[in-house]
Amino acid sequence: MIEKIKGLLKETEEFVVKNVDELEQYRLKYLSKKGEISTLFGDFKNVAPELKKEVGQKINLLKQSAQQKFDELKDYLEDQSDNTEGTDLSRPGEPIELGSRHPISLVKNEIVSIFNKLGFTVDEGPEIEDDWHVFSALNFPPEHPARDMQDTFFIEKEPDILLRTHTSSVQVRVMQNQKPPIRTLLPGRVFRNEAISARAHCIFHQIEGLFVAENVSFADLKQTLMYFAKEMFGEKTQIRLRPSYFPFTEPSAEMDVSCSICAGKGCNVCKYTGWLEILGCGMVDPNVLENCGIDSEKYTGFAFGMGVERIAMLKYQIKDLRLYFENDVRFLRQFKSAY
Ligand code: DAH
Repeated sequence: MIEKIKGLLKETEEFVVKNVDELEQYRLKYLSKKGEISTLFGDFKNVAPELKKEVGQKINLLKQSAQQKFDELKDYLEDQSDNTEGTDLSRPGEPIELGSRHPISLVKNEIVSIFNKLGFTVDEGPEIEDDWHVFSALNFPPEHPARDMQDTFFIEKEPDILLRTHTSSVQVRVMQNQKPPIRTLLPGRVFRNEAISARAHCIFHQIEGLFVAENVSFADLKQTLMYFAKEMFGEKTQIRLRPSYFPFTEPSAEMDVSCSICAGKGCNVCKYTGWLEILGCGMVDPNVLENCGIDSEKYTGFAFGMGVERIAMLKYQIKDLRLYFENDVRFLRQFKSAY
């Protein structure tokens, strides 16, 4: 047995190959399940007990060395073929794997394209903002408790520089820089000092809508949102507006859509209410218009804001927010759509 091992060690060490077929011969002869080395392992049970230790070690060494030799031969052949001479340039290439869009992008694009049909364009603003654009211009007085509604990441104090807590800040920038009529959507990332869990994250995405012109009414707001809800969740979707409070809108409301999962009958997604809250909205407070240099006697407007993760969760029935940020391809691969 020891002689046999020695012989095989020598043979494998001296083996030379000229091409992949010969490499495959080597593999079959020595390394495959029915190869010489496996056979040795099979015969091992017949070795006398006092020799078992020595023989066992030698077989293991042989196996390692034969495998190493295989790797070397393979590398050698690959190096050879890097040299383009002799390479078949007409061989078909490796197919390119197509990626898929992130569900947040898909839902964002879908929302934008629905509002595009109503004439909304898109504007963006900075993620690092100052107090004026995030709070003051939006009618949050300095000591107003509404500032506590949002836990803010501050970068600097006096003057306050912070990560925006909502995309409403971009409303201010748009109104400062454009003249009515303004009809725009403001998508972007927002940041809040929240403990990360299945239902909350410190980074998420919002889409804000803003319409400022002469004679814009609450009826226009309601009609616009109803159109959106039906396009997004299906023709049968119903909406309901509940009175609410935001410093920058008056009156303010929160909008629910009828639960598309149970069609309003009640299920665990809508917590057996038949309704799902999806956005906040209202008529732009005249103070906000004035803060941004727009004549509130002449113009009125409506605004709304929604969380993209929330809409995507409802659309795709995703139960854990953290999945959006982990970028696990097994999760991402599932989303294919026209957007
Ligand atoms: N900014 C609000 C938030 O982050 C959402 C919102 C509510 C935006 C009402 C609006 C609005 O434009 O009118 O919770």
